[in-house]
Amino acid sequence: MNQRFKDKVILITGTGGGMGREAALRFAAEGALVVGCDVKTDGNRETVEMVRQQGGIIDTMEPVDLGDPDQAQRWVEDAAAIHGRIDILYNNASACRFAPIETFPIEDWQFTMRNEVNLVFYVTRFAWPYLKRQGGVILNTGSIAGMAGSGPGGAGHAAAKGAVIALTKQLAQEGAEHNIRAVTISPGFVQTPGTAAHAENPEIREMLIARNIIKRIGQPEDVVALALFLASDEASFITGANYVVDGGRTSN
Ligand SMILES: NC(=O)c1ccc[n+]([C@@H]2O[C@H](COP(=O)([O-])OP(=O)(O)OC[C@H]3O[C@@H](n4cnc5c(N)ncnc54)[C@H](O)[C@@H]3O)[C@@H](O)[C@H]2O)c1
Repeated sequence: MNQRFKDKVILITGTGGGMGREAALRFAAEGALVVGCDVKTDGNRETVEMVRQQGGIIDTMEPVDLGDPDQAQRWVEDAAAIHGRIDILYNNASACRFAPIETFPIEDWQFTMRNEVNLVFYVTRFAWPYLKRQGGVILNTGSIAGMAGSGPGGAGHAAAKGAVIALTKQLAQEGAEHNIRAVTISPGFVQTPGTAAHAENPEIREMLIARNIIKRIGQPEDVVALALFLASDEASFITGANYVVDGGRTSN
């Protein structure tokens, strides 16, 4: 196995399942020292077992609610203390709520901003001094929702992911002088625990596949394969950009 990340310390948020779990497995398989966290406990423990079973190195903390700035700061500092540095930060975790704009509960809007935008800012803000020491990479998870809208009820999600894409550009600008690169990965629909209700409904699944040029549902490995490349030295001239992984959904 290629060891592109031998002894690199990567902090991954939301390792309890989905793309965060896949990222933990794949980065660890390529030699990275993974530190994860999740607001949920059970899924995160399973991820730890899976990574260790394949011989990888991982520590996690749970439950950590990254929408709370104090918990975000504590996690980043505890995580950095384990191996004494941070080389890569993968902002993956998020949670959002949907409702039509006319009746969108204010509380749901605030929940979505807290758990899709604020947590990215908090974790990045507290990891920045560590990344600055030797340079590093920030991978932020956007969405095609942040570029093209999110369909019915998606006002909060679309706005939040648009903010993540914009924040990443800002981080790229401020990071360049410190040798910090920042990149957004914007998936289309991907089958994960977070989207299981849609992916497992035959009618919705068919509709989702029909929208893509490549006639299948995205899988976590489709997204994480790109994350591995973007975090590697092969991508050393890439920063501020937003990469879409959506089976061609937004290409036309
Ligand atoms: N799955 C898709 O179709 C899709 C499409 C576009 C973008 N994305 C983005 O990709 C990322 C991963 O998505 P996924 O489908 O794997 O999600 P998921 O819901 O399956 O997993 C996200 C994880 O983040 C954790 N989390 C949520 N809020 C948290 C908080 N405040 N503190 C700590 N942990 C928290 C959850 O507990 C969960 O384990 C998210 O940013 C999501 O918005 C997903």
